[in-house]
Amino acid sequence: MLSVSNLSVQFGKRVLFDDVNTTFTEGNCYGIIGANGAGKSTFLKILAGQQEPTSGVVNLEPGKRMSVLEQNHNLYDDYPVLETVLRGNKPLFAIKSEMDALYADYNDENAERIGELQTAFEEMDGWNADSSAAALLSNLGITEDLHYELMKDLDGKQKVRVLLAQTLFGNPDVLIMDEPTNDLDYETISWLVDFLADFKNTIIVVSHDRHFLDSVCTHISDIDFGKITHYTGNYTFWYESSQLATRQRAQQNKKAEEKKKELEAFIRRFSANAAKSKQATSRKKMIEKLNINDIKPSSRRYPAIIFEREREAGDQILNIENLESTLEGEVLFKKLNLNLKKDDKVFVFSKDSRATTAFYEIINNKEEPKSGKFEWGITTSQSYLPVDNSEFFQKDLTLVDWLRQYAKTAEEKEEVYIRGFLGKMLFSGEEALKSAKVLSGGEKVRCMLSKMMFQRANVLMLDEPTNHLDLESITAFNNALKNFKGAILFTSHDREFVQSVANRIVELTPNGIIDRYMTFEEYMEDDKIKKLREDLYKE
Ligand SMILES: Nc1ncnc2c1ncn2[C@@H]1O[C@H](COP(=O)(O)OP(=O)(O)OP(=O)(O)O)[C@@H](O)[C@H]1O
Ligand SMILES: [Mg+2]
Repeated sequence: MLSVSNLSVQFGKRVLFDDVNTTFTEGNCYGIIGANGAGKSTFLKILAGQQEPTSGVVNLEPGKRMSVLEQNHNLYDDYPVLETVLRGNKPLFAIKSEMDALYADYNDENAERIGELQTAFEEMDGWNADSSAAALLSNLGITEDLHYELMKDLDGKQKVRVLLAQTLFGNPDVLIMDEPTNDLDYETISWLVDFLADFKNTIIVVSHDRHFLDSVCTHISDIDFGKITHYTGNYTFWYESSQLATRQRAQQNKKAEEKKKELEAFIRRFSANAAKSKQATSRKKMIEKLNINDIKPSSRRYPAIIFEREREAGDQILNIENLESTLEGEVLFKKLNLNLKKDDKVFVFSKDSRATTAFYEIINNKEEPKSGKFEWGITTSQSYLPVDNSEFFQKDLTLVDWLRQYAKTAEEKEEVYIRGFLGKMLFSGEEALKSAKVLSGGEKVRCMLSKMMFQRANVLMLDEPTNHLDLESITAFNNALKNFKGAILFTSHDREFVQSVANRIVELTPNGIIDRYMTFEEYMEDDKIKKLREDLYKE
């Protein structure tokens, strides 16, 4: 019901899509995957009519409506909640606004126009819009007392739900989402997963989160080699089968017959598992036909991430005394006392991501604490990766000039050196000369990591570093942190990442902190800590 014909997209010499022809079928959930910069966001924008392709067309079956989940959670901050939802149906909202304005200034001249608008409004079932928007909100857990509040007065989890209500308003036939789980906490993610698993219409969603993809997708659409290929099944199936395809391709001398048997056994094993998995929810059809004949080994590459230190730090790294942070009167964390040792790898954890972000902003002098103090050791040097990196990408600089801003030595300032470095970070050839403004989400993080590598600090601070990154970059990054000799303070939703890096857990709560030298798994399994956490999060 949604198809794309002869689609090509090109930026300069770089071909992103080359004559793509593909169809999205009703009722399926497509997980769009691909390396950072492969063109996923671009593809969604083209589907949604927000960007023009170089050539080709998008066809949505007549009478069907498409709806896009807004990525910027703060875009509607100045609007009331109910109105934010109504704005989801643009044509209807435009008619209503014009009508309201004319009514306010009613006279003989505008009476005729009002009549026209009323007819159109009625045809779109406009008189029921408010009540259906309110019902939708209530179903998503946004109670009536909030419907006339401004968006900016809601917390992050509530905003996401209102924006989802906006997208769902008027029951769209196709729902489009670009990395919806970024910036969400575990609880909201699992709520979204359940919601999407029960949603009846077509979903097209970009994500780098394997767990999420496995829970909601009936199909995986891989963007690679300038094409889009659909595979039936979830992410794990796609991943395992592409690995198998690569292995088989390497086994030149193995007989075709043996390869076929191996494939069949693989599919049988997988089909049995798939039927048992949570994915077999109400609406999702079981995987009827798995086919991996056309899976090609992928073109994805690993960036070269290495964090070195200009010098080793002394014993005094960071000392924090009785730090407290509040947001509009609400306590985010308090009684934070911490002495950071030089090889501590601290996972800074909280149920409220506003608390962890406030913590990093304070110790990087970007924000004032409510009370308390902190002191960095004089031999330390810090490098900080904030969760929001937009301020770094405002200027129209080429990547070479962008990175040169952070060079320390004459050698590092040279073009050859920077280009070599960028090449290892997967911006090779012409790519190094594109503007920092056009970078994809993951490419921006890759640049921020390059900046950190240039800084050669002995303390790293990372607030949700794996957001936006593809799996290859996460793996390389993960290894770099494991090998880093200095101190690390970091916050991440990626459990594997946390488990393999952290040797100390510090949890921030509104009533005090918990601080333990152990791994995250040990921390979560400890009964005493469980009890303590419950008490500390109590109002
Ligand atoms: N105006 C432009 N000029 C040149 N290159 C561009 C322009 N706009 C986008 N690009 C490039 O096109 C590529 C695709 O970008 P896109 O945002 O679609 O990637 P993506 O697959 O969504 O990546 P990510 O996983 O990081 O979000 C990127 O390499 C980006 O730098
Ligand atoms: Mg993207």
